[in-house]
Amino acid sequence: MTCPEEQAYRLLTEYSNGFMVSQVLFAACELGVFDLLAEAPEPLGAAAVAARLGTSSCGTELLLDTCVSLKLLQVQTRRGKALYQNTELSSTYLVRASPKCQGNMLRYLARTTYLCWGHLAQAVRDGKNQYLEAFGVPSDELFSAIYRSEGERLQVMRGLQDIWSISGRHVLAAFDLSPFPLICDIGGCSGALAKECTSLYPGCRVTVFDIPEVVQMAKKHFSFLEEARISFREDAQYSGIECIHTAV
Ligand SMILES: C[S@@+](CC[C@H](N)C(=O)[O-])C[C@H]1O[C@@H](n2cnc3c(N)ncnc32)[C@H](O)[C@@H]1O
Repeated sequence: MTCPEEQAYRLLTEYSNGFMVSQVLFAACELGVFDLLAEAPEPLGAAAVAARLGTSSCGTELLLDTCVSLKLLQVQTRRGKALYQNTELSSTYLVRASPKCQGNMLRYLARTTYLCWGHLAQAVRDGKNQYLEAFGVPSDELFSAIYRSEGERLQVMRGLQDIWSISGRHVLAAFDLSPFPLICDIGGCSGALAKECTSLYPGCRVTVFDIPEVVQMAKKHFSFLEEARISFREDAQYSGIECIHTAV
């Protein structure tokens, strides 16, 4: 039985080192560890993973073992050799070929959100977001900072698709929307939630409102939008929605 002081220290360590857990997850995704192990016909040793990913053998072994401790990978020992394979969690959510893959959202968290959070103390001092400090872009209009390049806009949209593919149905079932034949999704982005909505409520149509750049990108990149019951309306550039978003 640990004493309260030890428990408090353990909690403090957990909090202060928490960012390392995220970085292990982000690095393993970025390097393609989970995709490689999913494609391999049998579990692989660290040397084989390193050779196929073109990474250092010592770094790879450390990363793989840390993934095991985080339950992102499992390991078995055969003839004294450690062999790694995906867990159910990684097979479901981290392998690109999985329909539930969260890779886009993880990439967004790793490359954007993580950097912004590195300026949290300054954000509290200033009382404003830190896009200027993190990325050198002005953020008076929040979405012009969030969508600071076409690639970034697409990344945000794909990330939201990942999230709603898992949570959308639960959110939309929280209230019975079946009496409504027409539902408007204001700031509906790529239409990911609209897609879940038409699937859950077969009698409804959804109109998604968003800014022109987002609507155009949605039409170009997200093929499910051929769904006849989802339509898009281009809204004014960065107006009222932004205030609501900033407020919440
Ligand atoms: C936080 S995102 C949420 C997206 C979507 N509702 C979701 O949950 O996945 C806010 C959305 O509002 C959109 N937006 C910002 N300003 C807007 C405006 N003036 N009119 C319509 N949509 C706007 C953004 O492009 C973005 O898609």
